[in-house]
Amino acid sequence: MESYRQRKVVKTVPTVQTVYQAMQAFFKPLWPGEDKPLVLGEGKDMRPVLMLVGEAPGETEVIKRRPFVGKAGKNLDEFLTLARLNREDIFVSNAVKIRPTEIGPTGRTRNRAPNKEELSLFIPWLMKEIKAVNPRYLVTLGNVPLKALTENKNTVSHCHGQWLESQTGVPLFALYHPASIIYRRALAPVYEQDVLTLAEALQDTKGA
Ligand code: URA
Repeated sequence: MESYRQRKVVKTVPTVQTVYQAMQAFFKPLWPGEDKPLVLGEGKDMRPVLMLVGEAPGETEVIKRRPFVGKAGKNLDEFLTLARLNREDIFVSNAVKIRPTEIGPTGRTRNRAPNKEELSLFIPWLMKEIKAVNPRYLVTLGNVPLKALTENKNTVSHCHGQWLESQTGVPLFALYHPASIIYRRALAPVYEQDVLTLAEALQDTKGA
């Protein structure tokens, strides 16, 4: 019979669904009376080749409760086509899982960048999510996830198209946010070249 000494301690990593359950329980009481639903990640949630991390959901994403299904999602789909990737084969998520909003000058609700409080609440959960998903590579979309995963050391304008070390131990490739090419058309060829660099690297590591 197996002795106490022989028994191995098997550490199990929680699944992403378990992480999400704990996350829902954590956030539920935080903003009483405010409608701040969480938009969770989706796709291949166990050892995908890539996990894409965006900034935060927008209006359409909150309505559909799915990441990257609005305007930025269209650009993301173009990126995936260019990189010869399917959404089902990767995992797509956001650093912050609520929609950060403010009232604009016309009185309309609009998106804003996540603030310090939101980042400090969500980043520890992003770390747990990445650990559970265990992707081979991370791709950050824009400055928010890039800074969150590299201890604030990098900015996308300096590091786009490059491989970096991330706090999680998973190699990270930095891309501009797909929405930034909507506002800055001049970035389109740069973004395209970065995506091709990524696609080439993925091709080289296939089967490795
Ligand atoms: N922008 C993001 O960063 N994430 C989304 O899910 C949608 C737009």
